[in-house]
Amino acid sequence: MTREKPRILLFGHNGQVAWELRRSLATLGEVVTAGVDGAQHPLDLRDAAALDRLVHELRPRLMVNAAAYTAVDQAESEPELAWRLNAEVVGELGRLGAALDCPVLHYSTDYVFSGEGDVPWKENDEPDPRSVYGKSKLAGEQALLSSRADCLILRTAWVYGGRGRNFLLTMQRLFRERDSLGVVADQYGAPTWSRMIAEASAQLLAQCRLDDGGFSFGEHREEIFHLSSEGQASWYDFARTILEAGEEDCDLRPLTTAEYPTAAARPAYSVLNNNRLWQVWGIRLPDWREALALCLEEQG
Ligand SMILES: NC(=O)c1ccc[n+]([C@@H]2O[C@H](COP(=O)([O-])OP(=O)(O)OC[C@H]3O[C@@H](n4cnc5c(N)ncnc54)[C@H](OP(=O)(O)O)[C@@H]3O)[C@@H](O)[C@H]2O)c1
Repeated sequence: MTREKPRILLFGHNGQVAWELRRSLATLGEVVTAGVDGAQHPLDLRDAAALDRLVHELRPRLMVNAAAYTAVDQAESEPELAWRLNAEVVGELGRLGAALDCPVLHYSTDYVFSGEGDVPWKENDEPDPRSVYGKSKLAGEQALLSSRADCLILRTAWVYGGRGRNFLLTMQRLFRERDSLGVVADQYGAPTWSRMIAEASAQLLAQCRLDDGGFSFGEHREEIFHLSSEGQASWYDFARTILEAGEEDCDLRPLTTAEYPTAAARPAYSVLNNNRLWQVWGIRLPDWREALALCLEEQG
């Protein structure tokens, strides 16, 4: 088997998942990043022509899209920008991937679901997003799946990590600043460490190698897989576990969603069923508490 080191074009550089992917994908090829904040190739994804030029110039063997508009509440007042980044760009990546015979790995969200019920959502359950963010991400999924690109979508959830804007770092800051804090206790999901998403992505991609060093999702092209921690938590459970692991003292109170109004409606129950990822790829993330403990251990 001859193997060149394939070029992997990663959209995103300093985002939570992108930052980890730069490390995890480095064993699989030459990772080059495109983005707005320090990336090797400066690229504002609002510019469709620049995206087209860059992909034609770099001729990657794989594109991994970890770029997105992720400000869930802000999206309600900036729907055009959310739609551009989460829907249109993803369709363009699909078209470029199909035209240049370059597979596309893309990330989506548990917020494509309504949040009704209390059974973990499967890949083929009907999406019914209730927010601009969720609707734009669903439109991105559909645009990619109809592009005829060799593509695969990983839906993840409640992403946190040691960098970027996330619930873990926000809670740790608030515990230092405040004596008491209310946190929503009636929304359930699975807190998922960005490191685990990146590691699992690399393990999946390692199973998709072609003899010439490129990649193909083969019989699983155009499929969606759920990729989140095992177990489930409310934001309050997540916050309490963070508090108990630290040294700060804070009076933590459970709130209802009605007591904590936000611009965007969030699903009450968006836990994902990850069984297919295990059945097809032999990959299963640990329980959210176990992963959180590992992440906190690294923070020291
Ligand atoms: N955060 C969550 O809780 C969550 C939950 C479920 C699913 N997801 C999905 O997981 C994926 C990764 O999310 P994340 O939490 O890692 O996101 P993030 O930390 O908010 O990072 C966003 C990324 O998007 C890039 N980006 C934003 N605007 C851009 C623009 N105009 N041009 C080029 N790049 C732009 C940024 O690029 P730079 O690095 O260059 O700044 C950054 O890498 C996304 O698909 C997201 O929808 C996230």
